[in-house]
Amino acid sequence: MSSSPVIDKIKEKLDIVDVISEYVPALKKAGRNYKACCPFHNEKTPSFNVSPDKQIYHCFGCAEGGDMFTFVMKIEGMTFPEAARKLALKAGVEYGDERSHEMTEADKERLELKKMLAHAAAFYQKALFSPEGEKAKLYLGERRLSKATVERVGLGWAPLNGNALMAELKAKGWSKDLALKAGLVTEREGGRTGDTFRGRIMFPIKSQAGDTTAFGGRVLDPEGQPKYLNSPETVLFSKRKTLYGLHEALPEIRKSGRLLLLEGYMDVIGAHQHGVTWAVAPLGTALTAEHAGLIGRYAKDTVVMFDDDRAGIQASVRAAEVFMDAGLYVRLANLGTGQDPDEFLNDHGREEFEKKLAEASDTLEFRMNLFFKNRKTPPTSQEKAQAISVLLETVARQPDEILKSEWVKSLATRFSVEETSVLKQLRKVSLKAPQAQSRRAAPEASAMPSLERGFLQLLLRDPALIAQAADLSPEDFSDPLARRLFEAAVALPPADRAKAANAIAARLPEHAALVLELAVSDLGPDMSAGRDAAGASRMLKRFSKERRLKELKALPSMTPQQLQEYSKLMTELKSSAKDL
Ligand code: UTP
Ligand code: MN
Repeated sequence: MSSSPVIDKIKEKLDIVDVISEYVPALKKAGRNYKACCPFHNEKTPSFNVSPDKQIYHCFGCAEGGDMFTFVMKIEGMTFPEAARKLALKAGVEYGDERSHEMTEADKERLELKKMLAHAAAFYQKALFSPEGEKAKLYLGERRLSKATVERVGLGWAPLNGNALMAELKAKGWSKDLALKAGLVTEREGGRTGDTFRGRIMFPIKSQAGDTTAFGGRVLDPEGQPKYLNSPETVLFSKRKTLYGLHEALPEIRKSGRLLLLEGYMDVIGAHQHGVTWAVAPLGTALTAEHAGLIGRYAKDTVVMFDDDRAGIQASVRAAEVFMDAGLYVRLANLGTGQDPDEFLNDHGREEFEKKLAEASDTLEFRMNLFFKNRKTPPTSQEKAQAISVLLETVARQPDEILKSEWVKSLATRFSVEETSVLKQLRKVSLKAPQAQSRRAAPEASAMPSLERGFLQLLLRDPALIAQAADLSPEDFSDPLARRLFEAAVALPPADRAKAANAIAARLPEHAALVLELAVSDLGPDMSAGRDAAGASRMLKRFSKERRLKELKALPSMTPQQLQEYSKLMTELKSSAKDL
């Protein structure tokens, strides 16, 4: 590490314990040293040590170590000069220009990339407030974002012209190569490059340190795909490790120890606008172990609140499992109104919202509530057994033995069964290595379109429907796994249909966890209320026809047969529209 009078002065003025405490509030005195759980890897017993005498830190668990500069570089993802500048500020030492300090080539490039991304954010924002951003501005108004909010988060508009940003960057002297590295332009077919984002509302994504490192872009056109496009992975940006809003939320999270994990960009922005400033969100990926580690570093009280729809509820349960695997305790909250947090806050305000947060419950209770929620009659013994065996996978996964035994008790009470039988069953589940099983089920279920998943849930709940699903063919499902499960369901011999979930799970052991999850998980508002299996089946048929129609339309030319199929589909779709 470089040494210079400035660096020495910073070291003189600051104590490493203070610097690190800001990031690791749990740091506690233990003998001559200070100790805490390591912020760089997941652990339950502290092996991260800070020595005030030597002004260094070291983790015996992951061998990470260094001085205060290394620490800030590592934890903030900064270059040396950036970390030094930050510490200089804290120390009240004049730092001067970064050029006068030693920098590697890689450091220089990272700095240049950050400048370019900051410039891009400004360019997008300027476009938003120009006439071409008019529609986008109106949309943001409809979403009830104030001008102050738009400016604070730096929202922008990516022009429809697919070269506007590149032209701007070129004019500022940046190379195409660097713009590619920043993820701002993309190679397209035929070796041409164009702006990555076109005709989208732009959400700058910031690192924890507050630098713009990537963007999310939302379509305006409701038909546009994908709804949100994110920057590709770059040297500055890794989706798995980034939480949207963390930079803005960190002061409040540090102060109060609480963190609210929401599902998306708009939720976080809306929450902050309403004063819920401790909210962050992952970026369209499932919550990762890296996210959990990051959250665990700052927050003592984490509440997960995803959208109040089936996908959101399942994703929040899976997120809770990721936290659990990391040895972290979180609670799950649910609005119960079918609204996004953003919509709920707009309609009901912060106070009502905080009431919902206060009602958050632990994972097991949350799942039990789901099971009992839309049930009019008490569950049969078989349903109980099935539900308990699925819920026991969550219990088996709980690394904390005290909590585990509490959970066994509450399962027994809630389902009115003997605690000893729950325990016996738990032993069986634990033997089957449940962690690997439920982990595999996670991405599969989320990938399935909700209508297809919902229909399968109905089939598994009420196997009598299988006989009535004769209209449908496996091809009517767009998701390959949904197709497989449907095939397996209709292939069941009538005798096995009564216990369809178990029978299918036995036939497709690799998807057993998913099948059982589908069988017991909540149907969600759009499935349980009003929409019956026949309706769902009609919709599936319709979507499948629409998909086929799209395929045909996309053909460069149609054979007479295809043309005939096309007009037949058109007629059928028109007449089925009346049924809906
Ligand atoms: P949602 O579809 O719930 O979006 O996806 P949203 O945030 O509520 O957006 P609005 O309210 O319709 O504007 C939740 C999150 O999943 C990611 C985004 O991070 C989004 O905020 N996502 C969603 C993607 O990355 N790509 C997509 O195509 C859709
Ligand atoms: Mn949403």
